[in-house]
Amino acid sequence: MVIRSQIIGAGGYLPARVVTNDELAKQLDTSDAWIQERTGIRQRHIAAPEETAAFMGAAAARSALREAGAGVDDVDAIVLATTTPDQAFPATAVRVQALLGMKRGFAFDVSAACSGFIYALAVADAMLRAGTARSALVIGSEVYSRILDWSDRSTAVLFGDGAGAVYLRAGKGEGLGTDRGVLSTHLHSQGELGDILYVDGAVGRRDRPGTLVMNGREVFRHAVVRLAEAVDEALLANGLDRGQVDWLVPHQANMRIIEAMRRKIALRPEQVVVTVDRHANTSAASIPLALAEAVGDGRIRSGDLVLMEALGGGLTWGSALVRL
Ligand code: ACO
Repeated sequence: MVIRSQIIGAGGYLPARVVTNDELAKQLDTSDAWIQERTGIRQRHIAAPEETAAFMGAAAARSALREAGAGVDDVDAIVLATTTPDQAFPATAVRVQALLGMKRGFAFDVSAACSGFIYALAVADAMLRAGTARSALVIGSEVYSRILDWSDRSTAVLFGDGAGAVYLRAGKGEGLGTDRGVLSTHLHSQGELGDILYVDGAVGRRDRPGTLVMNGREVFRHAVVRLAEAVDEALLANGLDRGQVDWLVPHQANMRIIEAMRRKIALRPEQVVVTVDRHANTSAASIPLALAEAVGDGRIRSGDLVLMEALGGGLTWGSALVRL
């Protein structure tokens, strides 16, 4: 018998304000056609001032708990992935804890850029399997609109705001690929590539709050190679082959990267959950938002094998294989 971290509920939150490509083209030298062709993005949600990372994370968490039929007293830990925290400290996770009215347990943030959800899931899964906690909210919440250089067309068109969350509970398994829950997670980083995607400042530097800087071509090149490796690693670790994967829930950076992964795993287009067209890249929030959408509309069902993968600034990348 082994302990498995089972996803009992998933939820998401998106700001009400939608900004289309055409709207961006009014202030930037770009076009709807260019953005759609290169990225698949049609629109993105942009946060209002009161829609902070904590506010959106709490809303996504409430939605995940509601779907799970659980309450805040059923949560031992909050692990929140963000690279756009509201404050240097306390962690956005403890702000979420307060907003939820949660009087017990513990909460902390994880920083791994667009791979943040995979990292947070891996940390929470390890804690559940070790017995440190018996349940956890794993949240990705991002307000990239606040770190974008809105005069830089090469990055401003790519990102959006939002939050997603899953509620995990420790359950029992046989140690087999047929178990329900997180079957494995696989994390990687390569620090010497830190300068191909980064924010050129921080709250620790009074002179420079910072905006996002990216060498898009380099990120693209590494993404395709590293994500393919992470997918193989996840399947191999569980003695499963790609034909057994029911769903790919990828990080939503770019339709061309998603499509390359789909072909690599030889999945049909309808087996890939895509939100990048409507959400753009919401960084650590993109995977739980996509999962919540596909579970909510009945596409992903209990027992389905779901492969998740992400790559982001760091570089960081990783994969997770989960049976819902
Ligand atoms: N509108 C119009 N033209 C643009 C825009 C824009 N928004 N942005 C760039 N261009 C121009 C460039 O200036 C360049 O013009 P030039 O040839 O006259 O110099 C031309 O388009 C080509 O630029 P590239 O950067 O080479 O375009 P590319 O085909 O590589 O597409 C993109 C850019 C979409 C960013 C691509 O590199 C990509 O998808 N990279 C992956 C990175 C990514 O998705 N990052 C998200 C964060 S990381 C993550 O989550 C994985």
